[in-house]
Amino acid sequence: MTPTRHYLMCRPDHFSVDYAINPWMDPGTGADRDIAVRQWEGLKAVYEELGHSVSLIDPVEGLPDMVFAANGALVVDGRVYGARFTYPERAPEAGAYLRWFAGHGYETKEASFTNEGEGDFLVMADVILAGTGFRTDVAAHKEAQEFFGRPVVTLQLVDPRFYHLDTALFPLDDGRNAAYYPGAFSPGSEQVLRRLFPEAVLASAADAAVLGLNAVSDGRNVVVNSEAAELQLELKRRGYEVIPVDMSELRKAGGGPKCCTLEIRS
Ligand code: ARG
Repeated sequence: MTPTRHYLMCRPDHFSVDYAINPWMDPGTGADRDIAVRQWEGLKAVYEELGHSVSLIDPVEGLPDMVFAANGALVVDGRVYGARFTYPERAPEAGAYLRWFAGHGYETKEASFTNEGEGDFLVMADVILAGTGFRTDVAAHKEAQEFFGRPVVTLQLVDPRFYHLDTALFPLDDGRNAAYYPGAFSPGSEQVLRRLFPEAVLASAADAAVLGLNAVSDGRNVVVNSEAAELQLELKRRGYEVIPVDMSELRKAGGGPKCCTLEIRS
């Protein structure tokens, strides 16, 4: 049986693309909020059908990217390491998420260094993988290691389309394996990944380019962008239950299913 997960999500009631802080965002084109809400509702329904529990944080007007809950914090062993955003447009989200956790009885820690929560921190079985290069400061990797008492492995991101670690890699098998796009990483970091996960699923450039790596796995099921065709085939071949979702409207802000999902690990 798949153990149930607890996720925090934020309804995209105030979603829009009216600034550009990553190459996916084009304020000229914008995005359709109603479509985004429908796609987000679909994702939430998928989690609930899988038996996972979803908590909700109230969206805040004027914070169009707050739907990307993954960036709000990193939660391990019921302890919360707060985010500290790179761009001023998103800065107030950090406090909103930290207050939600404090209000729900969690031990929280305000970050001293720039980090975008689970966007750049992915919890594996033995280590926490941490991205840097575009958003999260390496100093935050060290701070998180001290706070959680878990080894943090720094990975260098090199392609601006994959500005967060969770756009280039997702954990499989409860963090004992991973799927990733090698082209998103520096040569040294790619080697680190090869050593850590010799059986990894390697995604193609085409699947990465539709944000196929921004997926969520509970160990057995993988919730993945429906356009990532090869990736879905390979996951099925390896015995995973693949659940395709359409998040195309949220991708106009540079996000996919994982970006909308913050895991609360008790
Ligand atoms: N527009 C948001 C940003 O650039 C998208 C965040 C996507 N989140 C993620 N976990 N990758 O910050």
